[in-house]
Amino acid sequence: MPPAPDVVHETDIRAIDGWTLHEFAEVTSTNALAAHLPAWSAVTATVQTAGRGRTGRQWVSDAGGLWLSAVLPTPGDPAGWSLLPLAAGWAVLDTVRALGVADARLRWPNDVLVGRRKLAGILVDRFSADQAVVGIGLNLTNQPGAVEEALLAEVTRLADLLPAAPDRAGVLVRLLAALTRQHHRLESGDHAGLCHDLNGAWIHRHVHVTLAGGEGACNGHLEGIDACGSLLLRTAGGDLRVLPAHRVDCFREIF
Ligand code: BTN
Repeated sequence: MPPAPDVVHETDIRAIDGWTLHEFAEVTSTNALAAHLPAWSAVTATVQTAGRGRTGRQWVSDAGGLWLSAVLPTPGDPAGWSLLPLAAGWAVLDTVRALGVADARLRWPNDVLVGRRKLAGILVDRFSADQAVVGIGLNLTNQPGAVEEALLAEVTRLADLLPAAPDRAGVLVRLLAALTRQHHRLESGDHAGLCHDLNGAWIHRHVHVTLAGGEGACNGHLEGIDACGSLLLRTAGGDLRVLPAHRVDCFREIF
C-alpha cells in the first residue's frame, strides 16, 4: 500500500447511490488516496500531478477529465475476482455507449477506444486482499494533446464525440452506477454473461502479444477470453494459446 499522502484539501464529500464520494482539487494520484479508504468510497480530482497508467506509464491528468478511483470489496477467494479489471472496462464501455458513443469498443484488457484513439484507461490496484481500487481515467473536455504532443494523434475525448459537452457530474454518477452493476454481476457469479458481453466488444482481432519473462512474442487472432479472463489466441499455425493476464507483457493491435 502506498504511504498515506500528505494532507490535501478536500473540496467536497457526499453520498451518491451507495458510494461516499471524496472530491479534491489536486492530488498525486486518486488511486493513492483511495488505498486508505473503505469499500464503496470513491475519489475524484480535478488534476492529478502524478497520474499512473498501466505497466508503469504516466497518465496525463489535466483539468477537464474525469479522474476517478472507486474502492470495491472483493471478499472470499481472490480468484473469484480475476475478471474485475475486465468488468471495469465493460462498465466504462457501457457508460460511454449509453451517453451516445455507439462505436466505442474495448482493447484487451480494458482500454476503451473509438477507432484507434483511446478514450479511457483503467488501472486496478490490489492494495489488500479484501478490496480493489479501480482507477478510471476518462477524457471529457481536457486537452491531453496540449500537455503531451504525441497524444494528439492517439487519444480522443467525449467532447470530440458528442454534440454537446459532457456534464462531468452526470458522467460520474452513471459510471459509479455501472461499476456497482458489474460488481453485483461478479458477486452473483455471472462470469459467463460478462465474458459473453466482453467477447462481443473486442472488435479488432488481429493482434501481437509479447509474453512476460522474455518468453517471446506471437501474432494471432484474438478468439476472446475464457471464464478466468485468460486471452485465447489462435496462432497462424492454428494452435490455440491460453494466456493468463500475468503472462502478457504487451498487447498490440495490428492494422
Ligand atoms: C491506462 O490505460 O494505462 C490506465 C490509466 C488509468 C488512469 C486513472 S486516472 C484515475 C486513477 N488514478 C491514477 O493515477 N490512475 C487512474
